[in-house]
Amino acid sequence: MIDMDKWARMAAQHIHLRRDQAPGRLAGKVVLITGAAQGFGKGIAQELYQEGAHILIADLNLPLAEQAAGELGERAQAVQVDVSKEDSVARMVAACVERFQGLDLLISNAGVLRAGSLEEMELADFEFVTSVNYTAFFLCAKYAAPIMKAQFNEDPGWTGDLIQINSKSGLAGSNRNFAYAGGKFGGIGLVQSFAMELAPYGIKVNAICPGNYYDGPLWSDPEKGLFVQYLRAGKVPGARTMEEVRQFYLGKSLIKRGCLPRDVARAVLYAVEQEYETGQAIPVTGGQVMLK
Ligand SMILES: NC(=O)c1ccc[n+]([C@@H]2O[C@H](COP(=O)([O-])OP(=O)(O)OC[C@H]3O[C@@H](n4cnc5c(N)ncnc54)[C@H](O)[C@@H]3O)[C@@H](O)[C@H]2O)c1
Repeated sequence: MIDMDKWARMAAQHIHLRRDQAPGRLAGKVVLITGAAQGFGKGIAQELYQEGAHILIADLNLPLAEQAAGELGERAQAVQVDVSKEDSVARMVAACVERFQGLDLLISNAGVLRAGSLEEMELADFEFVTSVNYTAFFLCAKYAAPIMKAQFNEDPGWTGDLIQINSKSGLAGSNRNFAYAGGKFGGIGLVQSFAMELAPYGIKVNAICPGNYYDGPLWSDPEKGLFVQYLRAGKVPGARTMEEVRQFYLGKSLIKRGCLPRDVARAVLYAVEQEYETGQAIPVTGGQVMLK
């Protein structure tokens, strides 16, 4: 079992020492991003690195995580994690403090998608999606909180953030995609509840709910991406090419393009810099989903 008290003490001891003069809106901040070896997480890591942050790229896929960290530079490090496993999450947080002496922002981004109707969905698939998209955010918060609380106790001027990369499917149901949408809706319940519990310690907790990242591998992978899957499954009536499927989905948002990592990174920066807001679900959907 990992001794989290030891790492909390180390984070507290260093909170006054690790001030950093690098330029940028996150200069000197320590940011841990799960699932950051590719896709949204990797793009967010690139944007936040440019803002001066130290970045821990935590992913199941260690070679790809190391490649992503190598592309960033010396303020980035890779670590392997399975966010659905408690010991692994504890080790990830400890590794962050060991490498960067603290933790200011944890972005719970790793996510998986297995779509299917009630007839098709097996319990094992439902539980797999739930463990990565929902339970993992609880584990991340559980192990980040003692580190962040220790930093706050040492320096009451310090503030920190937990951010879940949620989805527009956390704000509106998703047909034949209930395992994903249900876990994402649940994530917003966790966000609101953690925000209540952690506000006294200077820790804000928010969700960001992006629209579809069509240029990322989840949609555009030529072998197993959603465009090619939907083409083969005939999900878009009349569409005969991947491009026609793509145009159909592009038409769904008011701003006629997909969501990009930089759009999500801007919402992250807003959530971090905005001192007077917590417990929110911030949509970044080009107007496709509007709050009620
Ligand atoms: N792509 C989209 O259109 C879209 C839209 C809205 C929200 N999101 C959300 O954004 C987040 C990132 O999605 P993406 O499209 O970039 O995904 P992706 O599949 O491109 O990347 C996900 C990363 O998470 C890692 N990962 C998977 N399971 C893991 C585990 N158990 N432990 C650690 N790492 C694990 C993978 O190795 C991969 O590097 C997810 O939470 C997803 O639900 C994506």
